[in-house]
Amino acid sequence: MHSGGVGACIPLRCEQMRKQMGEKKRLYYPYHNPLLVSPARALPKEMAVVGAGTIGPDIGYYLKRAMPDSKLFLVDVVEKPLKNAQKRLSGYAERAVDRKKMTAQQAEAVLADISYTMAYEDLKDCDLVIEAATENIPLKQKIFESIEKIVRADTLITSNTSSIPADRIFSRMERPDRATVTHFFAPAWRSLPVEVVSWEKVNREVLDYLFWLFAATGKVPLITDNVICFMLDRVFVNWCNEAAQLLPDVTASQVDKVTEEFVFAGPFFVLNMVNGNPVIIETNTLQAEEGEHYKPARLLASVDRWHTHRPGTGVDMPRMSRETIRDRMLGVIFSQCFDIIDRGIGTKEDLNFGCQIALGFREGPLDIMRDLGEDEVNRIMQKFDRERPGYPQPNEAEGFYQDFNRYILVDDVNGVKVITIRRPQAMNALNDEVTAEILKVLEEYAHDPAVKGFVITGYGSRAFSAGADIGKFPEMLGNRDASIQYSRDCANVQLFMDRMQKPVVAAVNGMALGGGLELAIRCHSIVATRNAVFQFPEITLGILPGIGGCVVPYRKWPKGASLFHEMICLGRRIGVEEALNIGMVDEAAEDYSDLIGKAVNLAGTGGDAVKRIPDGRVQIPPIEIPSKPMAGGLALSKEALSIIVKTIEAGAAAEHLSDALEIGYAGFGEIACADAAQEGITAFLQKRRPEYNK
Ligand code: COA
Repeated sequence: MHSGGVGACIPLRCEQMRKQMGEKKRLYYPYHNPLLVSPARALPKEMAVVGAGTIGPDIGYYLKRAMPDSKLFLVDVVEKPLKNAQKRLSGYAERAVDRKKMTAQQAEAVLADISYTMAYEDLKDCDLVIEAATENIPLKQKIFESIEKIVRADTLITSNTSSIPADRIFSRMERPDRATVTHFFAPAWRSLPVEVVSWEKVNREVLDYLFWLFAATGKVPLITDNVICFMLDRVFVNWCNEAAQLLPDVTASQVDKVTEEFVFAGPFFVLNMVNGNPVIIETNTLQAEEGEHYKPARLLASVDRWHTHRPGTGVDMPRMSRETIRDRMLGVIFSQCFDIIDRGIGTKEDLNFGCQIALGFREGPLDIMRDLGEDEVNRIMQKFDRERPGYPQPNEAEGFYQDFNRYILVDDVNGVKVITIRRPQAMNALNDEVTAEILKVLEEYAHDPAVKGFVITGYGSRAFSAGADIGKFPEMLGNRDASIQYSRDCANVQLFMDRMQKPVVAAVNGMALGGGLELAIRCHSIVATRNAVFQFPEITLGILPGIGGCVVPYRKWPKGASLFHEMICLGRRIGVEEALNIGMVDEAAEDYSDLIGKAVNLAGTGGDAVKRIPDGRVQIPPIEIPSKPMAGGLALSKEALSIIVKTIEAGAAAEHLSDALEIGYAGFGEIACADAAQEGITAFLQKRRPEYNK
């Protein structure tokens, strides 16, 4: 993540600073969901990463794993790091095979066609070159000069830097319009975010393409403005610097312990994992260009290794110290967040989300502010201003910083609102905030004449949604009433869609599981990519689909009743063909772009595309459960199955849809109190196989 610092300081001109302070920038041009962009180029066939040190090989592995048919060059000026990189990549692939994340054949394809080379001439046919050398401006400029001499005029060139603005690195390039910063986070082969920097000389088409490319290859691109440290490292380096400023009045261990309330690992633990000490150089640059207050802590320069504890272990601490640390550490994050938002360095959505996926925050910093409330945030900021004068304070009223969608992206495509669930770190699993945000958008535009309809889809190409957030379940297990209420509350979006006059189309871009499938089937139509998978895995967790899943499919597609029995009772997965056969899926799509195109067309047809769920009883075939019910190799709980069978049958026999839905909620309440649910949910969260003995 952090492998050096800004190599040279060029003072930021006042007028540029004023511009940054005053204007609200528009970072995202065509869409917020990158996969809605129509890319101007295909995926790269040949790619190179220059620099085989810490992060370069990891970027290379990500590229090759995402695009195994392509050719990759890993370049360095000395042989040793290249040899080490080769070993590292083989190790990654071996481990992936051991953990069954990849087959041996896939691993072979990933490792094939990688050249570990010292010859820049090898890059002549590359479509994309990512520089990941040391953080030193003259060195980077020299590398770009060498690359430009060899590659084609249309080759894209990016730099992985955590802090140096694009105009400084690319100032000597002949064609800077094809270059920008792409900032990866450690470990780059697995970590989702990549900051993609929008700067004045980069061609808009190049930026849009990179935005699309990263998402199409499994990353989460976040567009930021071109300032020192971009967006997320402003939070990170100032957080670490502030931690060091608190020493020696408190210990590193105490600081880490207090911050574990907000992050999975404290600043000193993370600094120990980072090679070198980028925080000093980066805060030094901030100090030189943005103000004295950013001065690096004295101790940062003299300590190589901090004495701290493993996250999660106990540390003694007086109450006064806890309060001092907590207020200062919150003060610095809040200050950075206000500054980032006020100057338009990044969006509220990306800042809040990025801190979670890149910096290990348990919840976003704007969520922390929301939980603390306005008075407490004001108290912390006033205290911080007294103790650390000069640090940015908010320019706007508190409400402004809370007014955004945390879990969804909303785009406009041809008069249709495309709602994208963005929780790729949890396979776009649904929690009550996600569904509340979806509902708010539907309500807001339901009667807007400028909006023809809606599409709901998932971020990335793996999952529409992997269901309800299983992490939420433990708190209601064993509590019948709370579980019933939970399903009723979750169903608010579905109930609203049942009454809408404008069509809502589910664009299923991969897995639609459990609660995700219950959301998709309640939309008025479903379009799905060829790799889509539909499943109710609840029985494998010892529970049932309680938000209409046990009743709605039978009413909408009675032809599929036997298949639904298998899906709900035995966790059977179905693909697009089967779903098309029973009428559950309206259209299949070849890829994401085709999917959205078809879904938008359907949603754009207006009221005609709204299909209501039939009311009245429905005839279903008898449910036959095998004597040893299994899902895959997993023996299922008979106790849970008997509740499911009863719920499906009673739901089908109910006179009205509303009664049937209530039966479904009640079924969920009953099953949540059974032993099977306790075992199934606990096992999932402990990442083990459940064992059902009833
Ligand atoms: N709720 C909460 N988190 C979920 C989730 C859900 N429904 N589905 C996936 N996730 C999380 C995983 O816990 C994991 O988080 P981690 O990286 O912090 O450990 C992350 O998403 C990635 O999932 P992972 O299991 O590592 O990916 P995979 O490719 O091996 O498997 C699934 C993907 C979807 C098959 C698997 O995650 C799964 O079975 N999920 C549960 C699906 C389910 O039962 N849904 C119905 C709920 S009612």
